[in-house]
Amino acid sequence: MAAGTTAGVWVLVLSLWGVAVSDQNITARIGKPLVLNCKGAPKKPPQQLEWKLNTGRTEAWKVLTPQGGPWDSVARVLPNGSLLLPAVGIQDEGTFRCRATSRNGKETKSNYRVQVYQIPGKPDIVDPASELMAGVPNKVGTCVSEGGYPAGTLSWHLDGKTLIPDGKGVSVKEETRRHPETGLFTLHSELMVTPAWGGAPQPTFSCSFSPSFPRRRALHTAPTRPSVWEPVPLEEVQLVVEPAGGAVPPGGTVTLTCETSVQPPPQIHWTKDGTPLPLSPSPGDPGRPGDRRPARRGHHVAQAATQRTGEEGPRKPGGRRGGACGAEPAGGSRGG
Ligand SMILES: *[C@@H]1O[C@H](CO)[C@@H](O)[C@H](O)[C@H]1NC(C)=O
Ligand SMILES: *[C@@H]1O[C@H](CO)[C@@H](O)[C@H](O)[C@H]1NC(C)=O
Repeated sequence: MAAGTTAGVWVLVLSLWGVAVSDQNITARIGKPLVLNCKGAPKKPPQQLEWKLNTGRTEAWKVLTPQGGPWDSVARVLPNGSLLLPAVGIQDEGTFRCRATSRNGKETKSNYRVQVYQIPGKPDIVDPASELMAGVPNKVGTCVSEGGYPAGTLSWHLDGKTLIPDGKGVSVKEETRRHPETGLFTLHSELMVTPAWGGAPQPTFSCSFSPSFPRRRALHTAPTRPSVWEPVPLEEVQLVVEPAGGAVPPGGTVTLTCETSVQPPPQIHWTKDGTPLPLSPSPGDPGRPGDRRPARRGHHVAQAATQRTGEEGPRKPGGRRGGACGAEPAGGSRGG
């Protein structure tokens, strides 16, 4: 099983002053067994051989002999001279060397550089946005990859092309965490985009995980396809406040109406202090009918938007001609 569990093996054999030295880079999957052969060793005892290793488990070079000992559960010399690591861990990364003398007195050295890896689960886009607004930064979603080693990288794709963060129209916020016990990595990548006016009405975003070892393929998420909306120019939208001026006593009611004569009637989006308000009231939302807290200070801003193409048409017209909407921010119930 020597190289059977390894992804890539590069072999370089040098012959110096009659000593054969064999250098190999080995990659081994975490949790799997690894067998390293001691080149030039007789297949059966009696043998003249010595294994030594310098890894995350050792302080310096540690010598292992065929007699075995307390290290047997981590690494042990097999009867044929090979070294067995029953389950490779992150701490086994390092250098392994064997020096063997054949029956006719020829010395051979083997030198292995072991790197370990773990393939993470398929990455996933959490909290994908279903709608984006043209001209303003929008969060598309957060891509998450869990359980990989080494860390690797996440990248975003738009309509099949890799998105390069430029800090303007495209920005990415990344976070890398390491599990305190397993040492495996969790990557988060949050994508913000500012869709261009007149761009694609339904762009396709996806995310992929690329491992640090180049020989492995990238893992892709399922795509997400938000709709892009274009705001109606502000001069065509009117916000009517009742009572005028918007000053209400605690517990009072204020009605905000968003009016526009744009045709076809657009969808209305409400935001409060810059945060979008959900379309349907849910318990516990600040400033909803039934909420017993007094009215809060704050600005309600309505944005009307039309969808870019006629594919679906406006989905939720504001109601009456002129596309109006109303919101009751607080104190719907009295006596709270
Ligand atoms: C030694 O034995 C192990 C386990 O049986 C095997 O995987 C390995 O290839 C053997 N080494 C050699 C040099 O034959
Ligand atoms: C093994 O990897 C190291 C570091 O990546 C590199 O410098 C070296 O040339 C590699 N050795 C072989 C034999 O490929």
